Order: sequence, then C-alpha cells, then structure tokens
Amino acid sequence: RTYQVGYFVGSLSSTSINRVLSTALIRLAPDGMEFTEIPIGNLPLYSPDFDDAYPPEAVALKQAIGRSDAVLFVTPEYNRSIPGALKNAIDWASRPYGQNAFDHVPAAVIGASPGAIGTAVAQQSLRGVLSYCNARQMTAPEAYIQFSPEVFADDGEVKDASTADFLRGFMTEFRDHVERVLTVLPRG
Ligand code: FNR
Repeated sequence: RTYQVGYFVGSLSSTSINRVLSTALIRLAPDGMEFTEIPIGNLPLYSPDFDDAYPPEAVALKQAIGRSDAVLFVTPEYNRSIPGALKNAIDWASRPYGQNAFDHVPAAVIGASPGAIGTAVAQQSLRGVLSYCNARQMTAPEAYIQFSPEVFADDGEVKDASTADFLRGFMTEFRDHVERVLTVLPRG
C-alpha cells in the first residue's frame, strides 16, 4: 500500500539546506510513500488562550497531520536545539489537552548542518519532545547529515553515491517502520 507522509521542514529560510535535503529524501524514497509538506511558517505563536478557538492555520496543521499515515521531520539545529518555529508547530499540534495530533503517529527525524555534528544535538532534543507527544519514532538508523553543495544539488540530486545509498536506506527503513507500526494498529 501507499503511505501518506506529512513532512516538516524546520527552517523558514528561503535558501534552506534542510529543504534541499527533504527534496533529496523524497527523490530517494522507495515506492509506497507519498509526501506532502506540512507548512509551519504562517502559524502564530501558540498560547493556551487559543485552545477554545484555534486559528485556521493551526486547524489546517492538525488536519494535515490527521491525514498523514506518518510524519517526517527534516530540521536544522539552532543553538543546539530545534528552531523555535518547529517547536511552536509541535506545541500547536499537541494541544488542546487530550487532542494531541501526534499520538501514536509513526515518525522519523533527520537534519542537515554545514557543521560536522550534523544536527545530532537538535535531533536528540526533538526526540525528547516527540517522545512526550507519544509519536512512534524510528530509533534506528539515525542520520546526521553534514551538508555540502558538492554532494547535494539544489534540485535534491545527491551526487555522492555513498550518501545517496545511505539516504535511500534511511527512507526504506522508515517505510518498514511505518508498515510495522500501522500493521499492528492502523490509524483512525
Ligand atoms: C545556526 N547554525 C547551527 N548549526 C549547528 O550545527 N548547530 C547549531 O547549534 C547552530 N545554531 C544556529 C543558530 C541559529 C540561530 C542559526 C541561524 C544557525 C547554523 C545552521 O546549521 C545553518 O544556518 C543551516 O544552514 C541552517 O539550516 P537551513 O535553515 O539552511 O535548513
């Protein structure tokens, strides 16, 4: 079957290397996965004051997660954590209390940085957040991507064969993970 994957790009930058990485991942994904970006850049800052009446952007966010069989996070590291815009989106999706959109949703985490640590610290931080939100995370393989324009073309072509193989393997494992989780208990 084909799984609908909603993906988050944690960066709002118009030249985001993580957006390039997301394009590469989609190109390298196995059959049986379809991808739709879930936008986070137009959300107001979350406040519990909105819990009685979510604004349309936040309703759309929760509906997009609800339509997804699984979610994929492709995020930069900001000051050894995730960007505030991504955390804000997760906070919106997790509320109102008792209506957490991530509950039992299969998820995977990946990110790229120009630096050698490759968003490892941000991913650990994100994993803690997603654990609390009760998402069903793929725990292995991990993927800490040091971005270089020699390896990643702007259109998402991966020019280095070993990097392409690694990312292809990551996406195949993600598909298997989604299948395992949803075979035990389908969503909805
Ligand atoms: C960064 N950057 C960064 N890189 C890193 O490896 N660890 C870090 O903690 C940080 N911290 C950080 C904070 C802020 C506010 C900015 C703007 C940047 C550098 C970051 O990896 C680089 O700008 C990437 O290009 C960001 O990814 P996108 O936006 O291009 O996808």
